[in-house]
Amino acid sequence: MKQSIKMFRLVFLFAFILVLVACGNSTESGSSTGSGSSTSSGDTKTDETVPVSGEDIPEMKFKLAHITPTDHMWHQAAEKFNEKLQELSGGKLSVEIYPASQLGTEADMVQQVEAGSLDFALITGAYLSARTPEMAAWFAPYAFETLKEADEASRTDVAREILGKLEGTGLKGLDYLFAGQRVIVTKDKEIKSASDLEGLKMRVTPSPPLQDFYKSAGAAPEGLPLPEVYSALQTGVIDGMDMDLDATITNKYSEVTKYVAVTNHMVWPSVIVTNEGMYEGLPENVSAIVDEALKEAIKFSVETRSAQEEEFKSELASQGMTVYELDKEVFKDQIEEFDAKYSGQSDLIKKFIETFRN
Ligand code: BEZ
Repeated sequence: MKQSIKMFRLVFLFAFILVLVACGNSTESGSSTGSGSSTSSGDTKTDETVPVSGEDIPEMKFKLAHITPTDHMWHQAAEKFNEKLQELSGGKLSVEIYPASQLGTEADMVQQVEAGSLDFALITGAYLSARTPEMAAWFAPYAFETLKEADEASRTDVAREILGKLEGTGLKGLDYLFAGQRVIVTKDKEIKSASDLEGLKMRVTPSPPLQDFYKSAGAAPEGLPLPEVYSALQTGVIDGMDMDLDATITNKYSEVTKYVAVTNHMVWPSVIVTNEGMYEGLPENVSAIVDEALKEAIKFSVETRSAQEEEFKSELASQGMTVYELDKEVFKDQIEEFDAKYSGQSDLIKKFIETFRN
């Protein structure tokens, strides 16, 4: 009898331990699933890498700067980044945003990121192409039909290799964020063919591949940064510009121009840059949240901007502009010239063009 009581106690003790272990496991997986469901709307995240909140996440307030006005998609994407950082960290992480060149030009912002006084900046691929020549690949004319195509391309190995070329001066490219595709906006002359650009003083971002496109059509490119464009149009320093529909609206260019040729001849990436040392030094759970919040912001931006194309054209038309489509065939020679010149400059650009050219 004594023996069987002892046996019963042993079995009971063993069963009790089993129940405790099972409870422990279910508590863990319960919270992990909770993180996933409350934080993810995308399909790229894993529950293990992104905690929703926790004692171990330090309180950090980052700084992010960019050059566009607050109604531009890049600012909205920055706000989404902040929202997601807070949501995924239970309020421990956030970012203060400095829009509209408040912290200076792109060159100033790059310097601040390199020095570590600014954590993140949205820097145009056009600006970066002057210091990282491989970035020119993104400006292959008519390489992409839609923004979504370009966004998908940004996740390929060749695009990531280009991002990697930024490293070496303390700068790290985390990802790409696109604005709308490029269009041609003019003051007095309707552009219907490449030769209509001949002799026109066109504002083109000071970036070699962009300038080459206009030069090969016979235009005289003026390398003005965004904040100087409005007054240059107003005073007749330039006849037109290379722009996107978004910035044409947000900078009120309809007040000083008449025509929009919707060419969609190039995509317009910015790179979300950070300080390499700062980023590599972040606790793993913080960098995981930063990465995920960025992914969500980029996704939001591509989806929102892609749906706005028709609305933006109508808006500019309602502001009195003549808005018309211009076919890719018009710039056939410029496409060939670009491919020949830039494929010869770098194997990476050649690979990019071969991969994405339709
Ligand atoms: C531009 O320089 O044309 C530009 C820069 C940022 C966003 C949109 C346009």
